[in-house]
Amino acid sequence: MHILFIGDIIGRPGREVVSAELPALREKLALDFVVANGENIAGGFGVTRTTANELFAAGVDAISTGNHWADQKEILSLIVDEDRILRPRNYPLDTPGRGAGLYETRKGERVLVINVMGRTFMDPLDDPFAAVAAELNACPLREGADAIIVDMHAEATSEKMAMGHFCDGRVSLVVGTHTHVPTADAQILPGGTAYQTDAGGCCDYDSVIGMDKFEPLQRFTRKLSTARYTPATGPATLCAVFVETDARGLAIRIEPVRVGGRLSQHIPAA
Ligand SMILES: [Fe+2]
Ligand SMILES: [Fe+2]
Repeated sequence: MHILFIGDIIGRPGREVVSAELPALREKLALDFVVANGENIAGGFGVTRTTANELFAAGVDAISTGNHWADQKEILSLIVDEDRILRPRNYPLDTPGRGAGLYETRKGERVLVINVMGRTFMDPLDDPFAAVAAELNACPLREGADAIIVDMHAEATSEKMAMGHFCDGRVSLVVGTHTHVPTADAQILPGGTAYQTDAGGCCDYDSVIGMDKFEPLQRFTRKLSTARYTPATGPATLCAVFVETDARGLAIRIEPVRVGGRLSQHIPAA
């Protein structure tokens, strides 16, 4: 199976690069399933129906999120009736929405997507490891799903790597999101799980993690908060992770993808 996981898509520049590049990538890499982290698609903060539909129209099959999942009010109804949108699984039990979804590709293969959030330097949610274990017990690789993707939305690289090893051999891919910068550690772990600490953001990289650099600099250098953060508006780079799995649902190939904008370009060979 050919899987693409796209990192945090930030505002209009992020949506535009995904709409411009994903259809060709989908074709070139013969993608069976595409997941994108959409927690920043609506003006940098949260998800709306219109912006989510833009991603679905571009070829995204499921949208995961993170700490910004509920920044837009309309998500509270959207997340109940749109099962292609996930929020972190380890939120309190009564939180609307779902943290995992089982989907079917056009060829009829089953893909389980699990979205969890780390707790190091972040809000103290429930244990993300226990949350993933519960989902894997309910729907193990091969018996329950032909591929399993875990989006570990976290600040700390250590917590993300720990999740990679925790899932090694039990899922197809563990990929980190939230820090909006692609890491250079794409690898297949010893048990066969593909892993990259952060997929990277889809944003203008002449910015501070996708946001216009003026306001972050004010806050860092003068301790002054003068305006809301807004996405930087230059051409964005699409950052993603491409994974190929075998009949066991484990990875036989992982490659980073960087297309468009100012980052060094990397498009996997077909
Ligand atoms: Fe983000
Ligand atoms: Fe985040």
